[in-house]
This record gives sequence, C-alpha cells and structure tokens, in this order.
Amino acid sequence: MAKMWAGVTDGNTAQIADDFNSSIRFDCRLYKQDITGSMAHAAMLGAQGIITQQEAETLIDGLQGILEDLESGKLQFDMTCEDIHMFVEQVLTGRLGDVGKKLHTARSRNDQVALDLRLYLAQKTDFLIGLIRELVQAVTDKAEAYKATIMPGYTHLQRAQPITFGHHLMAYAMMMLRDLERLADTKKRTLISPIGCCALAGTTYHTDRRFEAAQLGMTDICRNSLDGVSDRDFAVELLSALSILMMHLSRFSEEIILWSSWEFQFVQLSDGYTTGSSIMPQKKNPDMAELVRGKTGRVYGDLMALLTTLKGLPLAYNKDMQEDKEAIFDAVDTVEMCLKVFVGMVETLTAIPENMKKAAQKGFINATDLADWLVKQGLPFRSAYKIAGQLVARCMAEHTVLEELPLAVYQEYSDLFTKEVYHAIDLTTCVATRISEGGTSVASVEAQIAYVKEQLG
Ligand code: ARG
Repeated sequence: MAKMWAGVTDGNTAQIADDFNSSIRFDCRLYKQDITGSMAHAAMLGAQGIITQQEAETLIDGLQGILEDLESGKLQFDMTCEDIHMFVEQVLTGRLGDVGKKLHTARSRNDQVALDLRLYLAQKTDFLIGLIRELVQAVTDKAEAYKATIMPGYTHLQRAQPITFGHHLMAYAMMMLRDLERLADTKKRTLISPIGCCALAGTTYHTDRRFEAAQLGMTDICRNSLDGVSDRDFAVELLSALSILMMHLSRFSEEIILWSSWEFQFVQLSDGYTTGSSIMPQKKNPDMAELVRGKTGRVYGDLMALLTTLKGLPLAYNKDMQEDKEAIFDAVDTVEMCLKVFVGMVETLTAIPENMKKAAQKGFINATDLADWLVKQGLPFRSAYKIAGQLVARCMAEHTVLEELPLAVYQEYSDLFTKEVYHAIDLTTCVATRISEGGTSVASVEAQIAYVKEQLG
C-alpha cells in the first residue's frame, strides 16, 4: 500500500509488513490527545508566521471537525492507516487539501507520539488518583465503624497481640496515601512537553516550544531534543507506582480472602462481590479479591515489558518504542478496573466482631501485656518476659488460658502478682492502653483517621 511517507522507497510495503508495523488498533485511543496536540501545533505555526494565521485557523477548524466527527461516530478509524497520527493527517488532508499537508511542518511523529502519550497518561493519572481517593475514603469509613472491634493482630500469621479491625484497615489507608503521593509526583514529570523536539535534532524553523507547552497545560519543555523523543521514564514511573499500588491491593485481597474463609470467618463479603460455585451449593467465593491479587502479576508484567523494551535502545527513537503502548494501556485499564471493584467490595464488607474477639481470646495474645504489667511492678523486662513465658507454658500444659489461671498459680512464679493482673491482661485493656502514636487504642486510631481525612482534604 502506497504510504504518505513514500520518499526514497516507493512506499509499496508488503501487506504482512503493514499489518506488523501498524499500531492504529491500539493507539487510536490517543485520538483526542493527538488532535489537541495538533491544534496547539497549528496555532504555534500560525503565531510564528511559519504558516499564515488563516491557514492555522483552517487547520484548527478542520481538526476540531475531525474530533467532533469521531466522537459522534460520524467518522470511524481507518484500520488500514499505520497509526493514529497518520490517520488524523490523512483525514485532514482529505478534507482540506493542500493546507492539511502543512500541519506536519516542524514536527515528527516521534515528538508527536511522545506528546500524545504524556497528555493521555497525565489525564489517566488524575482519574486513577480520583479512584484511589474514593478507596481510601471507603477504607477509612470502615475503620471508623470498627475502631473498637478487637481482633488478633498477627506476625508470621501467628496470633501476636490484640489490635482493632479499624487499626488494621487504617494500615491500608496509609499505604494508599503514599500511592497517591507517588502518582501526583509522577504526573509532574509527565506534564513536560516533547513537542518541537521533532525527529531527534530540533528544527530549522523558528518555532516556539513554550507556546505549545503552555497551550497544552504542560509545565515545562524537554530540554534536550534527543531525550524528548526517547524518554519514556514517565510511563515507567507510572507503571512502577501502579505496581506498588497493586502490591498493596494484593496484600489486602489476600487478607480479605483469608478473613472470609470458614477457618477465620472474620468478615463477610456482600453477595454483590462474591460468586457461587457451579457444583458446590455452599460456596461463596471471594473472586473479586482473588482477581485483584491475580491481576497484580499482570501489572508487574506490564512494567517489566516496558523496562525490557527500553533497556537496550540506542538514542533516539526506535520503532521498538511502539511496543510501549499496549503494556501501558493494559496496566492503566487493569488498575482502573481493580480500583472500581475494590471500592464496592470494601464498602459492602461487614466484619463479624464475635469471631474476631473469639480468635483473639485464645493463643496467649496478651502475653506481652502480662510481661509489661510485671515491668510496671518493678521487674526488668527480660525477667518479666521469662516469667510470662513460663506462665504460658503452664497454661498450655493445663489446657487453660492466662485469664483463667488462679492467682495462687501466678504467685508461684512471682510474689509481685496481685489480682490487678487480670485487668491488665483483659483484651479490652490491652487495646485501650496502646496509646502510643500510631498504636491500636481507639484514640490512636481516631488520630490516624483524622490524619487521613486531612490529607484527603
Ligand atoms: N506508531 C509509532 C509509535 O507508536 C509512532 C512514531 C513513529 N515514528 C516513526 N518514525 N516511525 O511509536
């Protein structure tokens, strides 16, 4: 098929080569950014006298028409075009004749595609930030509701110390606040304009790159034209930040899956966010959480694909870079879906406080508090730790728990013991007295909730 770029070659490429080379089936989603970028470019060419103002206006109107026609469905993408940039230019030239051919003055598809991608990702980043904020809000609301609900806290997945469900949930809110920060930071380096870098070396025309950047709401320009067309760091950063976010969601999913199992029964997922089994009528499967956990690997894969595509590339543009898009689009689409589903899943999740409490009551989760109480009576921590350990061993041997061990038995191990010890090892006391900043007491968790709310603004 004869090409717009037929120059030294006759442009008659083999059909298979066309199919292999073409990216329109996935880069067509950049149409809006491509057209907006071209409008800014036409305006700059006009303002600089590289084309006449009249021509600039004609181009801008023509581009606006294409945008409207695409959005109304009057115009469809031509999948025989090589990419979205060629498609828009071809339609424009078809509609405007020779004036259309002037649009590509002082630019290249190399700076054009970099610009389109930056504009697209900046917008997507904002959208994803909005979804993460919704999720942080949902998690914080749940935490508020369960700020006094006692559950076992784990290390090594062994019962460790009592905490509240609200405290546990707020840990995820904190992680996601950092995710928000990472995305906002990435966006700063995304909104930098490569347009005007042209193919790689800049241009002989008297262009005004800052004018174009300002028109597009970008905050700066790429300062080196080779870097401008070669740089995909902004996308690598975004996919890294999204991978970290997914890692958080995956850990959260893993816990939701555990908690909703028959073995734990700490939480109940709403029917809207669970599935049944085609054979086992009793099943209520946490598929949403499992899929988020599964899709995390997929997003990591997208990041790896992008990094690997870029790692061996000499400067400046190489066609390998066309491979960036599918990975990037897959990552943002996947994360978007995961976040949407997660918000609903968290909003409709309910805790089963009795089961959480029951699980916290066994497993000597208050052994640290027992040791701490002895320390408060004047014993050094290591000695107190040893006595608490011996008492736990005694309970185990006698199939009882610390709460039920008679005072006389306590006193066999230390004459410091009084009946006050029972209050100290009561789970409610254990939680209520962990008043350190960031700790599990209701007041500490309330402070965490207030902090997150303040950060959300
Ligand atoms: N479709 C190409 C891409 O996505 C656009 C840039 C092509 N530039 C070139 N000189 N062939 O990377």
